[in-house]
Amino acid sequence: MPSPLPLAAIPRAALPALLAAAPKAELHLHIEGTLEPELMFALARRNGVALPYADVAALRAAYAFADLQSFLDLYYAGASVLLTAQDFEDMAYAYFERAAADRIRRAEIFFDPQTHTARGVPLATVMAGLEAAIARAARDLNLSVALIPCFLRHLSEADALQTLEALLPYRARLLGVGLDSSERDHPPEKFSRVFAKARELGLRIVAHAGEEGPPAYIWGALNALGAERIDHGVRCLEDPALVAELRRRAVPLTVCPLSNLKLCVVPDLAAHPLPELLRQGLKVMLNSDDPAYFGGYLGENLRQCFEALPELDATAAYTLLRNGFEASFAGPAEQARWIAELDEVFAGFSAATETR
Ligand code: ADE
Ligand code: ZN
Repeated sequence: MPSPLPLAAIPRAALPALLAAAPKAELHLHIEGTLEPELMFALARRNGVALPYADVAALRAAYAFADLQSFLDLYYAGASVLLTAQDFEDMAYAYFERAAADRIRRAEIFFDPQTHTARGVPLATVMAGLEAAIARAARDLNLSVALIPCFLRHLSEADALQTLEALLPYRARLLGVGLDSSERDHPPEKFSRVFAKARELGLRIVAHAGEEGPPAYIWGALNALGAERIDHGVRCLEDPALVAELRRRAVPLTVCPLSNLKLCVVPDLAAHPLPELLRQGLKVMLNSDDPAYFGGYLGENLRQCFEALPELDATAAYTLLRNGFEASFAGPAEQARWIAELDEVFAGFSAATETR
């Protein structure tokens, strides 16, 4: 999008400070993926749950993943310490404090109802804890949070339909629904009927696609599920017709660089397709996915990408951050307020550069 700001004048050396100061949106964040090892052990002790690791250091040492599935196995095991509403509130509020420190203004966060209900934790417990933390974040942290439950794609369509039914009493407090978990061999089409029902309920639709799965899964998310945002989507570059379609429809891609690195989707950050996605005119933004497992929250994702990818300049920084607000499902007045704040921060850096 054209910017009224003289972005080209801002040198790369100013970018770390600019990125840190800018207001941000986080649209791809699994709240269970923010459970830091220290809190996991504290909750395990509080709830009398045994963890198969001696201590925090041993757990952290296990965070060496070969692919998505090797991460998911550990991530679902880690979630076993979450039993009470207070546990969910403590986990979520700890994330919200980190988000506020990163100057995140809007967070549309995922949670996985089936991960908890399958262990006998009622949905009411999960919702009570998350909602208590969300209310505190709005009051104390200048942070607007909305909830997106995701269906686990390795489970059946029937399980997802049952989960959607169980979510109905909470409909007014949910922004949309998503699709996550093991992508390989679980195409979006498996859940067409679930997402058709969700659309009838007026829920916004997002889906993980093109993380490990092929471009066909991104087509499936768009056409079979009605996805309005694609979570990850980095493999779209393998299909020029898909790139053209994503560009034509301005479908946001919630890209997660440190996640891609840790799950071996890319060999190193210098090889990340982010610059190419921007060159192709796609509506890309950066996110943190499961930051407790992948070594960095949103600010760190931005910092490391701009350090590793020399072609990323102030225009790229502005585009990524603005895309985040525009891709959110917040209303136009809120979006305009955040973008005005973003413009103000960039204008301050432009002015500082020009008077040097
Ligand atoms: N659940 C949590 N993180 C995920 C990811 N990166 N991909 C799919 N499912 C997930
Ligand atoms: Zn994800």
